[in-house]
Amino acid sequence: MQITERAKNIEPSATLSISARAKALQKQGRDIISFSAGEPDFDTPSVIKEEAKKAIDEGFTKYTPTSGIPELKEAISKKLEGENGLFYSPREIIVSCGAKHSLFNAILTLCNPGDEVLLPKPYWVTYLEQIKLAGGKPVFLEPSPATFTAGIEEIRKALTPCARILILNNPSNPTGVVWEEEELEKIAELAKEQDLVVVSDEIYERLTYDGAKVRSIASFPEMKERTIVINGVSKTFSMTGWRIGYAAGPQEVIEAMGRIQDHSTSNPTSISQRAAWRALQTDPCLVEEMVEKFNKRRKLIMQHLSEIPSVTFPIPRGAFYIFANFSSYLGKSFQGKSINSSLELAEILLEEAQIACVPGIAFGMEGYLRFSYATSEENIENGMKRLKDFINQIN
Ligand SMILES: Cc1ncc(COP(=O)(O)O)c(C=O)c1O
Repeated sequence: MQITERAKNIEPSATLSISARAKALQKQGRDIISFSAGEPDFDTPSVIKEEAKKAIDEGFTKYTPTSGIPELKEAISKKLEGENGLFYSPREIIVSCGAKHSLFNAILTLCNPGDEVLLPKPYWVTYLEQIKLAGGKPVFLEPSPATFTAGIEEIRKALTPCARILILNNPSNPTGVVWEEEELEKIAELAKEQDLVVVSDEIYERLTYDGAKVRSIASFPEMKERTIVINGVSKTFSMTGWRIGYAAGPQEVIEAMGRIQDHSTSNPTSISQRAAWRALQTDPCLVEEMVEKFNKRRKLIMQHLSEIPSVTFPIPRGAFYIFANFSSYLGKSFQGKSINSSLELAEILLEEAQIACVPGIAFGMEGYLRFSYATSEENIENGMKRLKDFINQIN
């Protein structure tokens, strides 16, 4: 059967496939410690689950408006106002089946074939594949070594008349880096000057440490009309399986995204929408408790990784990942097997040290490994011990 060029060109998600492989090995009885999770390991809070049960019992199980139930859009509007200082009416908001779906709708709406999309490295794997699906041309931006964000000079250098969109992920997956306000301000000025649209993925916004504050680029003067804010409940409320994300932006863009959604998925699950509505009303201490636990794990994994000779990393101040540079171990070997890339290093770590992590190349950067600390302190202790033992045997 014919498979289109479009489908052939799409790479499988490296993050999902490593997690799946780690799980398959665990099922076979192998004692794998996984640092590959892209989701909080906590349960969804029970008040949220109760709301979903209530929705089912009430028979709230039918189609809803494509762009989401009014109550949820109202709650998102309040959240954006209260937490981000952004004023969006419900008509400027669309709820989709996860933030990934919101992003896909946004890219399909904004990117014509041949348009250039500026993508700071290291990038979350899905952006690249979605740009390719839309026929866009990714233009990679190298990170500044000091901040691990794309500097303004780097963006200027990459600009051509075909540049249309800039993707920002703040805080970043895979680095956990939070963009400083001054950097965002400069980017906002450049976006206005060059007529760029910014797709700002803020899905990890509530998971921050060391007092880091995420400011949405949409909140800078005159940026709201050229920004699509992407967010959702998956990471903040440990609701990855519920599949609710949302986008806020200019009404005409949101309506166009709605037309795509009309003919692809229709509404996101009615029950999950009720659960997400409840999530947005929960006591902030529910999220704060989770952040506190993540922060302890973050400190623990930073401590361990900093004890490994020649390994460096940008300090993660958000999300639940750490992106560590192992390039000084490439070109070496372990028990006669040579290690020439981050992929080979991740594979050999899985086979020999029984720990799973994601190779940096999946995020466009060779020599790095991404570790997720959405796992217990005990797993971090044991997994890091395995990593250190393994590193000691590399020569
Ligand atoms: C940066 C980033 N954006 C979006 C998503 C997708 O979120 P959702 O599960 O709501 O689709 C993820 C999930 O890993 C992510 O890391």
